[in-house]
Amino acid sequence: MRVFQIEGGWGLDHLVLSSRPDPRPGAGEVLLRMKAASLNYRDLVVPDRGYGQYTGTLPLIPISDGVGEVVEVGAGVSRVAVGDRVCPSFLQRWVGGELNLERITGSLGGPIDGVMADLMVLPEGGVCRVPEHLSDVQAATLPCAALTAWSALVTEGGLRAGDRLLVQGTGGVALFALQFAKMAGAHVTVISSSDDKLARARALGADAGINYRSEPEWARASRAITDGAGFDHILELGGEKTLPQSLRCIRPGGTVSMIGVLSGGTMSASLGLIVTRQVRLQGITVGSRDGFEAMLRAIGQHRLEPIVDRVFEFAELKDAMAYLASGAHFGKVCLRH
Ligand SMILES: NC(=O)c1ccc[n+]([C@@H]2O[C@H](COP(=O)([O-])OP(=O)(O)OC[C@H]3O[C@@H](n4cnc5c(N)ncnc54)[C@H](OP(=O)(O)O)[C@@H]3O)[C@@H](O)[C@H]2O)c1
Repeated sequence: MRVFQIEGGWGLDHLVLSSRPDPRPGAGEVLLRMKAASLNYRDLVVPDRGYGQYTGTLPLIPISDGVGEVVEVGAGVSRVAVGDRVCPSFLQRWVGGELNLERITGSLGGPIDGVMADLMVLPEGGVCRVPEHLSDVQAATLPCAALTAWSALVTEGGLRAGDRLLVQGTGGVALFALQFAKMAGAHVTVISSSDDKLARARALGADAGINYRSEPEWARASRAITDGAGFDHILELGGEKTLPQSLRCIRPGGTVSMIGVLSGGTMSASLGLIVTRQVRLQGITVGSRDGFEAMLRAIGQHRLEPIVDRVFEFAELKDAMAYLASGAHFGKVCLRH
């Protein structure tokens, strides 16, 4: 079978189109014929071993998110059947309950081989059936970006109708957050580097937008949007440069979901604001399979359509990664196998 793998050394130069013998499922396992994949910011970092021990050993098949059809099942499999369309779950060992050190180590696309292969064998417990209304490419966007937004807002955040949410940027996690928050009846403000992208976010239901390039002090600009009260919830995707602003416009008792580090991974913010405003800083690591299944039910019930920016062919993986790195995208960058 065709695979992309990082071999012979870390770094993008070592990411090559290669081949491996076709795998077969053992007892309790399923064989998937992969249909599509989608990229996350994380996938740009893994080839440079950016996640240290969580990146795994070589050779490594990269990219965490995809969808495939079950084409064979091993002895004793009952969770899915041949013909089902399934997504591998991002953290293979986190089925439910609290996150712990064992559950955090089983992510796909490093250290476990990812989805850039024609065929993939996984334990039956590591896959979830996807809603029928989604295309293969749309379904491939769900395991990391969508579940991260869902975990932040629903599982951990308890978002309610009428809550005021601020979302940073218009990438994968941000647009799923916008869509889930509108589904829940919340008021959503998006900040972006581009007026054109802000207009597109409004067309998807965003209630307000701020260009963080022309308004670098966006915390001040955003106060009017909440009548001076501050946001109930902020999805922190920028990290180092954005957290100080977020702490200036979160309401007392509000929740800041700490998700991304797009502008740097060190914290240099006013601890006084966190204390006096009783701000809840909630770290988020994607989510469990239970959370994934709850989200898939909601997506199915609401016929939610993930926002796909551009689709590349399997062999164009490096072009797709370069496009994601350019920041030109709005929503998800995908690949067709
Ligand atoms: N903790 C977790 O479990 C988890 C899961 C998924 C992702 N993440 C992290 O979340 C972040 C976003 O991931 P993604 O896959 O959604 O990325 P993505 O699709 O590549 O989105 C990136 C977008 O973020 C916006 N952005 C970049 N720098 C910004 C800044 N300084 N301030 C505000 N917005 C900024 C830009 O949007 P505009 O062009 O509109 O400005 C950019 O297009 C990454 O740091 C990723 O590692 C964490």
